[in-house]
Amino acid sequence: MDYRQFIGRNVVSIKDLTKDEVECLLDLAERMIPYAKGEKRTKTLDGKIIANLFFEPSTRTRLSFESAAHRLGAQILDVSQMSATSIAKGETLADTIRMVDSYCDAIVMRHPYEGAARLATKYAKSPVINAGDGAASHPTQTLLDLFTIRNCKGKIDGLNITLVGDLKYGRTVHSLVDALMMYDVKLTFVAPDSLQMPADIVENLRNHGYDPRITSDLGEVIKDSDVLYVTRIQKERFPDPAEYKKVAGTYRIDKLALLEAKSDVIVMHPLPRVDEISTDIDDTPNAKYFEQAFNGIPVRMALLCAVLGGEI
Ligand code: CP
Repeated sequence: MDYRQFIGRNVVSIKDLTKDEVECLLDLAERMIPYAKGEKRTKTLDGKIIANLFFEPSTRTRLSFESAAHRLGAQILDVSQMSATSIAKGETLADTIRMVDSYCDAIVMRHPYEGAARLATKYAKSPVINAGDGAASHPTQTLLDLFTIRNCKGKIDGLNITLVGDLKYGRTVHSLVDALMMYDVKLTFVAPDSLQMPADIVENLRNHGYDPRITSDLGEVIKDSDVLYVTRIQKERFPDPAEYKKVAGTYRIDKLALLEAKSDVIVMHPLPRVDEISTDIDDTPNAKYFEQAFNGIPVRMALLCAVLGGEI
């Protein structure tokens, strides 16, 4: 498959991509690594302007898109707060997108509301890339998660992948499950009952022949896991702070916990972490979350290059 077929495409959900398309982007991301590290240089997107609209806080996604754009020779228009735009004066998202679209060649957007990125595609002629919308979807995170699993384990098929933490509100795990349904994997969901994977996602998995193991007890399943994908319990998405307090700090991966795991288990986390992964495992060969965060650059370079018609 040729990555040039992505020119002008929107990427709102990982479900917008086929498995072949995902693999094509991951292969292109592999080729981007020396450029992402600054070992090779390219100006393939010279003259292109990318609008980075972040209406919700972000460190990794915003800065890695920015770094990816710079590494490809593109320019960035950066908005990091809704309050700094005319949305604060009552302008609609639709009008904002129409304006921004005329100032740039591609729009990257994070927004607190589910469906915002899909809405933006209706008003933009340029490609729109969803950088996270509410609890719904985070497709570029998913691409870099798949890239990290593939690079660290040499494959995705055949793995036992355990998702731990906030599976109810976590958009990264919702997108990742959608993507993993393209592969032959075993899935395990570990969460407090109140934060388990939404029933519609579990039902969809079962309808497609998957039989996820569902538990609140990490100790019961850690020994079988090839990948531990840990997530933060997201205080900001709880309607009631008292409900957050009941589940905060439920899981913690530390050296003691890893004694129960396979010696080659990889520990991933989309970050930011709070206290669910102890810093005492940061320097172990199992810890892959900082490598995972770096992988955001080659993966987002691949996507920007592909949708904007770059050549590598
Ligand atoms: N993983 C992730 O989306 O991190 P940020 O919220 O810092 O972008």
